[in-house]
Amino acid sequence: MKFHTMDDLLSKDLKGKRVFVRADLNVPLTEDGKVSDKTRIEKFAPTAIALSEAGAKVIVTSHLGRPEGKEAKFSLEQIAEEVANEVEQEVIFVDDCIGEEVEQTIADMNGGDILLLENLRFYKEEKKCDEEFSKKLANLADFYVDDAFATSHRAHASTFGITNHVPSFAGFLMENELNALGTILHKPTEIDGGKSGAIVGGAKVSTKITVLENLMDKIDVLFIGGAMANTFLLAQGYDMGKSLVEADMVDVAKTVLKKAEEKGCEIILPVDLVVAPEFKSYEENEVETVAIDAVPADCMALDFGSKTLELIKNKITELESIVWNGPFGAFEMKPFEKTTFEVADFIAKQTQASELTSVGGGGDTVSALKQSGNIEKMTYISTAGGAFLEYMEGKELPGVKALEK
Ligand code: 3PG
Repeated sequence: MKFHTMDDLLSKDLKGKRVFVRADLNVPLTEDGKVSDKTRIEKFAPTAIALSEAGAKVIVTSHLGRPEGKEAKFSLEQIAEEVANEVEQEVIFVDDCIGEEVEQTIADMNGGDILLLENLRFYKEEKKCDEEFSKKLANLADFYVDDAFATSHRAHASTFGITNHVPSFAGFLMENELNALGTILHKPTEIDGGKSGAIVGGAKVSTKITVLENLMDKIDVLFIGGAMANTFLLAQGYDMGKSLVEADMVDVAKTVLKKAEEKGCEIILPVDLVVAPEFKSYEENEVETVAIDAVPADCMALDFGSKTLELIKNKITELESIVWNGPFGAFEMKPFEKTTFEVADFIAKQTQASELTSVGGGGDTVSALKQSGNIEKMTYISTAGGAFLEYMEGKELPGVKALEK
């Protein structure tokens, strides 16, 4: 591990010490400001609890949404109660993240108390990684803990600038995310003989091209899901009827296929497709499964067929690890959830039987895993969206880089 961890920090005497924790509490809220998915709060809570138990003054900070200045609908006060529930103690809230009131509150806190500060992005200096603002944040603390892997792709004052001014440590969640992703994105072939795979779905090749190119170097089998697969089939010369395709990405798709072959990365594309005339829900008997060379001119592909499902499952049995970002079909509409949900069931089963290490990330994937009842059965689910994708793209994450020692 190239960075200091919570174990390093907890080995110090933290009684009465001020610890600034950058969390990612950017959680979805309902219209009336209630937390509708508290996963990120739950996953961050162990860091706050451990610091509180060690007697530190725990200063919790985050962004929420993308406010333009101080907008009440993005106030972190709305989530203070959920944070208190998860850390199982009272949480003090101050409606600012720098300044006299914040400083006085911290001075008055007892060791073990937890304070939640207001949305960092209420100051435009946060996103600009302003040096003075970074110093003001750093001055609030003796130690800095970054537990916001989901914001680590942003070089902001609280994720990057602050680390130049105060000793920095990775929180438990940050460490867990990096460990989980680190073990999955390499070819286990070189280490222990197994194969690694990745499922990359999505509507557009253009948004996933960097992911595909990066993964080819790191994994053995690449499953292409979503409407993106249509563009690959088009590139192979198949007529895709009314299916969603990116005609201008055909050459790029051809290059991906060629490069993958050169690099020894097997690409799995559908061999049959579930098609329908419109992009809407149908009864199961209203849709048809066709071979990839028989897509009717007036139909569009909305899921993979049963032969492809079997092919995918067979390939997964050869794998030791798999990372999943993006569904196969239009899983939000019946009956096009079948491939995504059945692959989810299969990955969960293999994981539970200790045959597979499985990591999932990204909004649609997490939602498909939840809906199919498999979220708890995966080895690891990332709390990150954009940061997870950038990690898969092989990009350097500034928030992680800043912690490196
Ligand atoms: C996310 O939800 O992906 C993170 O909280 C980052 O949010 P941002 O894209 O607004 O920086």
